[in-house]
Amino acid sequence: TIDLRGRSYLSELDFTAAEIGHLLDLAADLKAARRAGTEHPRLTGRQLALIFEKTSTRTRCAFEVAAREQGAATTYLGPGDTHLGGKESVADTARVLGRMFDGIEYRGSAQSIVGDLAAHSGVPVYNGLTDTAHPTQSLCDVFTMREHSTKPLSEISYCYLGDARNNMGNSLLSMGALLGMDIRIAAPRALWPAADLVATCRAVAERSGARITLTEDVETAVRGADFLHTDVWVSMGEPAETWKERIDLLLPYQVNAKTLAATGNPDVAFMHCLPSLHDDRTRLGRELRDTYGLTGLEVTDEVFSSPRSLVFDQAENRLHTIKAILVATLADRPHIAEG
Ligand code: CP
Ligand code: NVA
Repeated sequence: TIDLRGRSYLSELDFTAAEIGHLLDLAADLKAARRAGTEHPRLTGRQLALIFEKTSTRTRCAFEVAAREQGAATTYLGPGDTHLGGKESVADTARVLGRMFDGIEYRGSAQSIVGDLAAHSGVPVYNGLTDTAHPTQSLCDVFTMREHSTKPLSEISYCYLGDARNNMGNSLLSMGALLGMDIRIAAPRALWPAADLVATCRAVAERSGARITLTEDVETAVRGADFLHTDVWVSMGEPAETWKERIDLLLPYQVNAKTLAATGNPDVAFMHCLPSLHDDRTRLGRELRDTYGLTGLEVTDEVFSSPRSLVFDQAENRLHTIKAILVATLADRPHIAEG
């Protein structure tokens, strides 16, 4: 039996495939119960700290709504709201929060911070995005792929196009490797995931049966794929000047109608963790349009807004999958006040 009580979720590869499978099944049960109106709160009285050193729409809302629907309370600590890293070390902050909260979500830059929070707080810590990983998103993505496919995970193939050196490139590679999937990365070599992560994932793939392809050739990468994923070309925390360089490098990896056609799969689906620059209805979108004459960067609006796009199902699934992580790690264990 799988028991995840007390565990942190810092990166995909800290878990076994069976443990991830357990979270996916639990998320499916929780989603069905919510829809049926039969959800039963298992986190009554739990306290969660949500630390965001970067902005968020989906992750914050998913943690808050998931916690509330399960009977837990949350304290949101936004960018610049705490002493963390300024006047107080991560270790001391972790010790303090561990005395008050049953679990801590953290979004920021360095992956080492989530590790330090977990090591010093004594309570489960959840990685809500760092520069190197976005594991609550990859859990949601594999949940969404499973939901929209008749195949077992081991037969599903997906291609991630664009900036594969960012948190999403790393996380989708790691998750697919762990679960034995067919993962293709289409990106310029300079934006492939770091060599040590690729080596780790290849070793994981030897055991899981995953097929990993890294290539600069979009046509080869997407052929036969069931799902196409992409993400923004410049991530939070990266300098704005990077846009020109990334656009020059990444335009051939844009997901557009041609990319979908190149899969040869009429049922191919499009996925994106969001937010996305697919049109000029945002301030940044307008700036990029005025500077580079482009509307639609990593994906065209034609694809984003097409029936092949799963992006809003995916966004909803953040709630169910994050709820599964909270329930699996926090339900039925001694409350902080009793410990
Ligand atoms: N996908 C995702 O993490 O979105 P937010 O930045 O809105 O949380
Ligand atoms: N790679 C993006 C993901 C946002 C959810 C970023 O880090 O900004």
